[in-house]
Amino acid sequence: MIKVEHLHKSFGDFKALKDISLEINDGEIVSLIGPSGSGKSTLLRCIHGLEKAESGKIWLDGELMDPSKKEQYAAQRKKMGFVFQHFNLFNNKTVLENCMLAQTSVLGKSETEAQATAMEYLTKVGMADKASSYPSRLSGGQKQRAAIARALCMNPEMMLFDEPTSALDPEMIKEVLDVMKDLGRQGMTMIVVTHEMGFARKVGNRVVFLESGEIIEQNESEAFFSNPSSERAKDFLSKVFYD
Ligand SMILES: Nc1ncnc2c1ncn2[C@@H]1O[C@H](COP(=O)(O)OP(=O)(O)O)[C@@H](O)[C@H]1O
Ligand SMILES: [Mg+2]
Repeated sequence: MIKVEHLHKSFGDFKALKDISLEINDGEIVSLIGPSGSGKSTLLRCIHGLEKAESGKIWLDGELMDPSKKEQYAAQRKKMGFVFQHFNLFNNKTVLENCMLAQTSVLGKSETEAQATAMEYLTKVGMADKASSYPSRLSGGQKQRAAIARALCMNPEMMLFDEPTSALDPEMIKEVLDVMKDLGRQGMTMIVVTHEMGFARKVGNRVVFLESGEIIEQNESEAFFSNPSSERAKDFLSKVFYD
């Protein structure tokens, strides 16, 4: 579904991504893990086109993503939903309006159609009863579920999550992970930057471990957690698991 080849990204002299190559298949759930500053967000943002890589290629559904082909590139970007750590909801709009906005402005749907789709996905994430609430009245978990519904309203083929539960109080993490797990069960292709090792291990199919802008190791989730092959992954896991 997505193929990344020899991606390089620098910020000034600092190399944030060094020669990243990666393939993600249809329906796969890939967890991107690694220390803070290892380039996880940058990789996700490059895939989505929020950041421009200086070299390398990305294919989506076998089609090269080429920013110079503006219309095609915009259509490709629409196939990917992005969920941010801090939700990025519009605070002056209700949950329903947040979910309708891009449908009407980007997809050109009618208000009626956009509203029906919004309610369908809000129901799916258990937020239908909060449709007319403003984000400021919601808990973090509710905000994130609304943000997921908003992304789903665009009918993406794949979903990119950048630490979707890192800004949440502990008791709200599960309600968001459960929504993500359901999505995965329904066959959604997902790339998830996460520190939720339980989710990565049990729900994710594969782990990609990044450090200092490089893929150090990737493996099936269970194999990665039970038997990491690199010293750096072993060291990382020994730090994140307390026992
Ligand atoms: N816009 C930016 N300008 C300068 N440096 C950046 C920018 N975005 C990220 N970086 C740097 O790139 C590195 C990787 O960042 P990031 O992808 O956010 O890491 P992670 O998500 O794994 O914590 C970090 O050292 C970070 O400081
Ligand atoms: Mg990050």
